[in-house]
This record gives sequence, structure tokens and C-alpha cells, in this order.
Amino acid sequence: MIDVRGFYQALPRLETGRLVLRPFTLADAPDVFAYASDPAVTDFLFWGPHEALQETEEYLKAVVRQYQTGEDGPWGIALRETGKIIGCIHLMDMDATHRKAEVGFVLARAYHNQGMMTEALREVLKYALGELGLNRVEGFCVVDNLASAAVMRKAGMTREGRLREYLFQKGAFRDFYVYSKLARNG
Ligand SMILES: CC(C)(COP(=O)(O)OP(=O)(O)OC[C@H]1O[C@@H](n2cnc3c(N)ncnc32)[C@H](O)[C@@H]1OP(=O)(O)O)[C@@H](O)C(=O)NCCC(=O)NCCS
Repeated sequence: MIDVRGFYQALPRLETGRLVLRPFTLADAPDVFAYASDPAVTDFLFWGPHEALQETEEYLKAVVRQYQTGEDGPWGIALRETGKIIGCIHLMDMDATHRKAEVGFVLARAYHNQGMMTEALREVLKYALGELGLNRVEGFCVVDNLASAAVMRKAGMTREGRLREYLFQKGAFRDFYVYSKLARNG
């Protein structure tokens, strides 16, 4: 049985060519605020933009509490060279019985379209469907979010369908694509 609490309590450090995925700390607030306050970045998300640094600090305090209780917790994505946090990737709603979870991600605008999130997602999928022992990782994006769909496709996820008016996002019911990757696909 996957130890979901243990996973979030000791989120593993993952490394790729350019990136380090590690738990957030409160000291990351200015870097997180830089992307969380950008309306162009949060447009397709359910939260944001953050209006003030304090909002980001509150968010990070909640994240650190979640690590401690083991109920949830995202990875911060840092540049390997400088340690600067440039985004976030998250295995959410982990279900030990069905061995599945949902992935979500966000990246600062200055780093878009350089293959960064594809690199991070590939590593998370490899870990989640390998060492961690999940059978399925799924991801959802608004159908207009072409960058997100491209990342999931490039990372080897399969588009399973279009969910009509699936969620209420930023004032309207929106259609979402659902993607997934299974352990038996490698
Ligand atoms: C989605 C997001 C994480 C992608 O990160 P990224 O590091 O730029 O992604 P990559 O560079 O690995 O890949 C992006 C792909 O999308 C494509 N793309 C970007 N904008 C596009 C657009 N408007 N139309 C079509 N394709 C687009 C790029 O060309 C690239 O594909 P390619 O390598 O085949 O050329 C980033 O855009 C982001 O943070 N967006 C805001 C938050 C968000 O939407 N998160 C996902 C919620 S489901």
C-alpha cells in the first residue's frame, strides 16, 4: 500500500538536467509571488493572481502545514544553476486504493516555451509510476490552454477525451481535456 502521508511528509528531491524539484519553504515567497501575481500565468488556473506578497506567504504557510500533516504538498521547481524557484508541480488527490493521482503545474512566464515543464513532468511521471507505485496519473486542462495540453502530450500522456463544462473556472463553466499516463505504458 502506498504511504500517502509519508510521501507528502518527505517529498523526495527530484533532479533533471536543468531543474531541481524540492519542497517549498517560507523563504521562497518572493520567487513564488513573482509568478503567482502574474495574471497571464494564472489565467487558466483556479486561483490568483496574488495581490500582495502576504497572500503568497499565507499560501506557503499552508503548504508547509500540509507537508507536516502529510495531507498534501506540491514541489517547488528550482533552477539547478541558481536555486531560484520558477514554478510548481503537484501530485494531488493521491488515492492509495486505486493507486492514482492528478498532476498540476505552473511556471513563471520568463521561462515558458523552453521545455522546462515537459522536463519536470517527465521526471514526476517517471517517479510516480515507478518508485512511488502509482498505476495512473491524470491531468486536466481547459481546452484553450494549448501550452498545458502540449506539455502533457510531450511528456507521454494520452488525451482520453473532452469533458463538457466540467468545472467552473474564472466565471464560466469550461470544457476540459483529460490526459493520463499508466504505469504499464512505461
Ligand atoms: C503550461 C505551462 C506550465 C507550460 O510550461 P512550459 O515550460 O512553457 O512548457 P514547454 O516549453 O515544455 O512546452 C510548451 C509547449 O506548448 C506550446 N505552446 C505554448 N503556447 C502555445 C499556444 N498559445 N498555442 C499553441 N502551442 C503553444 C509550445 O510551442 C510548446 O510546444 P513545442 O515544444 O511542441 O513547441 C506554462 O505555459 C504555464 O505555466 N502556464 C500557466 C499555468 C497553467 O496553465 N498551468 C497548467 C494548468 S492545467
